[in-house]
Amino acid sequence: MKTMIGVIGGSGLYEIDGLEGASWVKVRSPWGKPSDEVLLGRLDGVPMAFLPRHGRGHRLAPTDVPYRANIDALKRLGCTDIISVSACGSLRADYRPGDFVIVDQFIDRTFAREKSFFGAGCVAHVSMADPTCPRLGEACARAASGVTVHRGGTYLAMEGPQFSTRAESRLYRQWGADVIGMTNMPEAKLAREAELCYATVAMVTDYDCWHDDHGAVDVAAVIAVLKANSGRAKALLAALPAILGPDRPLCPHGCDRALDHAIMTARDA
Ligand code: ADE
Repeated sequence: MKTMIGVIGGSGLYEIDGLEGASWVKVRSPWGKPSDEVLLGRLDGVPMAFLPRHGRGHRLAPTDVPYRANIDALKRLGCTDIISVSACGSLRADYRPGDFVIVDQFIDRTFAREKSFFGAGCVAHVSMADPTCPRLGEACARAASGVTVHRGGTYLAMEGPQFSTRAESRLYRQWGADVIGMTNMPEAKLAREAELCYATVAMVTDYDCWHDDHGAVDVAAVIAVLKANSGRAKALLAALPAILGPDRPLCPHGCDRALDHAIMTARDA
């Protein structure tokens, strides 16, 4: 099978550089309108598709992102692997603003989003025990340079758009969450249902509000860190195709076969 890398760019990442033959294309999906057109091109012989999660110009709030249409659009284009690049707050002292975290677990606290492709006449229950692809996460860690990368971290997905209260922030730390953001759920669940490998590169922008030595989160500070770091995120993405290569083995973790034993509905029902 041939590799095709899909990138979902979060806050601060609305395009990627260096794609050969790059053009923005409109993708139609029965799940609604994706967040924006998709930038298609090739890098090191590997096709890539880039979709800005909030749309160019940052028009969509986390609750309003059309997560199903976005994943479906990337699947329809032929993507095999999805990299989610996402801003996040840190819930621990040693994950500092400016650092990257290769997330490997999630706690889903979102409640106002469509979370599945299944349900209407076809019921499926995919495993989310290991919600990200270790092979893809490892490739992202190898592709990063000039930045501190933490391999592993639990991402708490909150509904937003308001940031957390101090009590919530402290509670999430007690739960063992390492970073907090508003967008990776249900994205990771939908990628699994679509049998796509999924990895999150979370870019730490702030200490949320639990830290006694830091004030409350504010958007200006978040944007300043994102601006300083977007070059490193783009460099990571530019290095990834050469690491993954054009030919793709079956995923050793089974992400690409997630539905094999997941569908409950009888074939002739
Ligand atoms: N995105 C960036 N920083 C965040 C925070 N502290 N909480 C939720 N989402 C965020």
